[in-house]
Amino acid sequence: MRVLLVAVFLLVLGSPAAAAGAGAGAAQGHHVPISQYAYQPGDLTVRVGEAVTWTNHDQAPHDVLSSAGPAVLRSPLLSQGQSWSFTFTLPGTYDYYCSVHPDMRARVTVLPEETTTTPPPAVDQPPAAVAVPPAHDTAPATAVPTTTSAAPVQVVAAAPPPANGLEPMLLLAGLVAAVTTFCLLLIGARPEGR
Ligand code: CU
Repeated sequence: MRVLLVAVFLLVLGSPAAAAGAGAGAAQGHHVPISQYAYQPGDLTVRVGEAVTWTNHDQAPHDVLSSAGPAVLRSPLLSQGQSWSFTFTLPGTYDYYCSVHPDMRARVTVLPEETTTTPPPAVDQPPAAVAVPPAHDTAPATAVPTTTSAAPVQVVAAAPPPANGLEPMLLLAGLVAAVTTFCLLLIGARPEGR
C-alpha cells in the first residue's frame, strides 16, 4: 500500500514538472542561436504573444539590446551556453544588436495576432443564404414548373393546377382527417369491445 502511495506521489510530482518543461519548450517556439558572432536567423518573424529565445554558442559573450522597436530588449550578458527569452506583446519591427560587438545586428518582426482572415467569407455567405429562402417561400410550386422552358405545353398544363391547387390539398386534408378519425374510432372502440 505504501509503495503504491509513493508511486502515485512520484507520478503526480513528476508529471507537472515534465508537462511544464514541455510547455516551456513549446511556448518559447522561436530560437535564435548566437554563433560565429551572428544571430541566426538575422531576420525573424513571429506573432504577438510568441516568445523568442536567444542562446549563445560562442565562447565570446553576447547580449541582445534593441536599438529600435515598440518595446525594449535588454538581455544580460550571455556566456557560452546561456539563454535569454523575451515574449513579444507589441507588434512592430525590433532592431537589436550586441553591445559587446556592435557589428552584430539582427531584427525581429512581430505581426499582430492572426484572427481576421476567415470571418469575411463567413459573413458574405449568410446574406446569400437568407436571401434565397424568401424567394422559395413565396412560390415554391409555381417556380419549379416554369423553369422547364423546353416544353411550353407542359407549362400551360402545369399552370392550371396552382389555381385549382387548393382543391387537391383540401381533398388530401379531408382524406387524412377521415382516415385519422376512422383510426381513432377503431382504437377507441377496441377497449370497449374487450
Ligand atoms: Cu557579441
